[in-house]
Amino acid sequence: MTATPSPTLAQSLHFWARNASNESALLQASLRLGLFAALPVEGDAPPVSLDALARELRASPRGLRSLLELLVCLGFARQDGQGDERRFALARTAAGFLRDASFLSTLQAELPWWEPLGLLDEAVKRGEPVPHGGQRWDVLGHYRALFLDAPPALPSPEAADFFDRFARSGARTQLLITAGRLGLLELLAASPKTMPELGAATYLTTSGLRVLVEVLAKLGLTREDGGAWGLSPEAKQLLEGKALAYLVRSLSVSAQYWEALGKLDETVRSERFILDLKDPEVSRRFYADNSNQITAVFASHFQLSRRAATTLARARPLEGAKVLDIGTGSGVWGAAFARATPTTHVTYFDQAVVLEQVRRNTESLKVSDRARFWPGDLFTQDFGEADFDVIILPQVLNVLRPEALPGIFARVARALRPDGVLLIAEYVLNEGRDGPLDHLYFGLRRFMTNEGDLLSASEYGRLLADVGLTSTVCIPLPTQEMLLAARQGVSLPTQLAPADSVARQEPARGS
Ligand SMILES: C[S@@+](CC[C@H](N)C(=O)[O-])C[C@H]1O[C@@H](n2cnc3c(N)ncnc32)[C@H](O)[C@@H]1O
Repeated sequence: MTATPSPTLAQSLHFWARNASNESALLQASLRLGLFAALPVEGDAPPVSLDALARELRASPRGLRSLLELLVCLGFARQDGQGDERRFALARTAAGFLRDASFLSTLQAELPWWEPLGLLDEAVKRGEPVPHGGQRWDVLGHYRALFLDAPPALPSPEAADFFDRFARSGARTQLLITAGRLGLLELLAASPKTMPELGAATYLTTSGLRVLVEVLAKLGLTREDGGAWGLSPEAKQLLEGKALAYLVRSLSVSAQYWEALGKLDETVRSERFILDLKDPEVSRRFYADNSNQITAVFASHFQLSRRAATTLARARPLEGAKVLDIGTGSGVWGAAFARATPTTHVTYFDQAVVLEQVRRNTESLKVSDRARFWPGDLFTQDFGEADFDVIILPQVLNVLRPEALPGIFARVARALRPDGVLLIAEYVLNEGRDGPLDHLYFGLRRFMTNEGDLLSASEYGRLLADVGLTSTVCIPLPTQEMLLAARQGVSLPTQLAPADSVARQEPARGS
């Protein structure tokens, strides 16, 4: 058996910034809900259905499903069967430690720390325990215990790995959020500094700063040399140029989920959403931060969307095509189609407030003369009849609750010309719905924010066939999937165009 290679620092940093807090929250919510206790042990008793578990735990089936699919993907649970016939059990190795009373009490002792860990910046400012819920919490001491002191004696290496995911993963995300928010990462990136210099530059306590830099060193991000702390050579290389600002922005998005992740069990039980993005005020605040992120990733998404446009153009020429980009965001998908030929005309649809940015982006990409801006609400908008050759739904279906999908698909199918093509760019799950892991974490966040569900290609296929789009193909892109759908007989590409074919199709500058 070959050992799994250790992740690189780049992979770890990506995980800590985006998904490590999801991982701890998933495992802590599963324990709080009694899910580990309710699952029969693999091989000892028959596996159970989602509905039976939901009844026993008095929890929302959809919420419970979001947890179970992740537990299966991580190997802590097993599933048999497909679709509604799926049955779940606790993996035998996981049962080895999750049925151990003393290990369970070690896990239980970590549960009250989620909210106090969210006060790490306060602890670093004070350098002493912070008040929360009528008690004082030694957050810095807890970080020392988790990362710097000798680890607790645990029953097996598998139990130690579980404990790490359960308690330390989320603490790593919060450490990075705090280091980003306090400006510490920028200071360390600029030049190595002694502890008193760091204290003077940040007005923070040196006792608090010391815990931060020492735990960051444990993660391989900082290093002390001759009494001065700076980024480690590997971290320096990773965070060069715009990468550090990009990391800090993505950490600020992760920070928005912290409170809701700590109450994930309540959301799974009752579908009471702590971060409810269907609440207009919450959504406005959230997306104001998120839109910086969308703009920051424009360049990398533009490469992706241009490759998708080139791929479609190989099967269905786009000369003179009318394209509708629904939920356009930055306009990155529609603009890629506008750049595919000098005659494509693109309609960009989104909330009015978002379209201002799209207007600027189409101007700088020199495609504004073939652009139309259409403000509206995608939940209710009539998109017309047989008006468009291509309709794009890029990363937008995941904001719609599952019951809204048949309605939008019907409106979109009606708006497509007979030989029109619908392009969905989404995180599409595998057919077992137990991977890929990053997609499942993204789906967990959509559930906890009262948004959409992720589907497999065949689940999309069934919904699209219901509105007459019976021909579908799913083509993996580098970070997400592209699903193309059309009426019978319309030719669709089956493979992604090579990356170097995109540049060859680039129209002359200024056209
Ligand atoms: C996740 S972003 C995707 C942005 C872009 N398509 C991309 O791939 O980068 C979702 C977009 O849907 C838009 N949106 C959400 N709810 C909407 C609604 N009810 N009506 C119109 N647009 C909406 C948001 O403003 C946002 O721009």
